[in-house]
Amino acid sequence: MQIAILGTGGVGAALGTRWAAARHAVTFGSRAPGSEKVQQLIATCGSNASAKPPREAIATADAILFAVPWPAARETLVQIGDLSGRTLIDCTNPLLSDLSGIELGHVISAGEQIAAWAPGAKVVKAFNTASVKVMLNPQFGDHRATMFYCGDDAAAKLTVRQLIEDVGFDPVDAGSLTSSRYLEPLAMLYIHLAFRQGFGSNCAFKIMRR
Ligand SMILES: NC(=O)c1ccc[n+]([C@@H]2O[C@H](COP(=O)([O-])OP(=O)(O)OC[C@H]3O[C@@H](n4cnc5c(N)ncnc54)[C@H](OP(=O)(O)O)[C@@H]3O)[C@@H](O)[C@H]2O)c1
Repeated sequence: MQIAILGTGGVGAALGTRWAAARHAVTFGSRAPGSEKVQQLIATCGSNASAKPPREAIATADAILFAVPWPAARETLVQIGDLSGRTLIDCTNPLLSDLSGIELGHVISAGEQIAAWAPGAKVVKAFNTASVKVMLNPQFGDHRATMFYCGDDAAAKLTVRQLIEDVGFDPVDAGSLTSSRYLEPLAMLYIHLAFRQGFGSNCAFKIMRR
């Protein structure tokens, strides 16, 4: 699959590395594709990765990971232009700058707001409820960490489910995109446990059924 990743921070780098290792063709969409940081990232990913400015990076992608900070989300979407019909994986969390909470929730979510800013895009919320460390290795003993995803387009959700599997998570369908209203506060719980309750970022959510 051709995957474009907008943002070369912690999440973009971790998932890009994993997808390149799973033999997907990864193109990072960066504001500075020639920078030393981005060139090092490409070298880490091996021959399956490249970097371009955001608009060029997404041109032929089957799926686009949107991995920029929430405050930069709207501006980034405006700059890349029309995304109608494209599969857009939203991993953002609408965090307050001091990480003390989220600025949206319960009646709207970042996932739904991004869908409104990118009309016609098939937005799937995913990868927002685990840390970068867990994205790099979702295996805990015999268990795979859960990765929730939600969205309104069945085909786009299947694509994202496969990409979740390819990283090594156990995918759990959380329903329509409105479930972002639950997944984003869940991410806040994760951050609270990891950074304020002493769990650290090598922990993960796991759904069990019987
Ligand atoms: N960190 C986590 O553990 C984690 C977990 C789950 C979800 N998330 C969410 O995933 C998203 C990305 O998180 P992250 O930790 O990867 O963020 P990050 O390390 O801060 O990186 C974000 C990347 O976005 C790009 N970017 C585009 N416009 C930007 C702007 N105006 N200011 C700063 N960066 C800009 C930059 O790449 P270029 O310079 O190459 O353009 C930057 O490296 C966030 O929305 C976050 O809430 C994070």
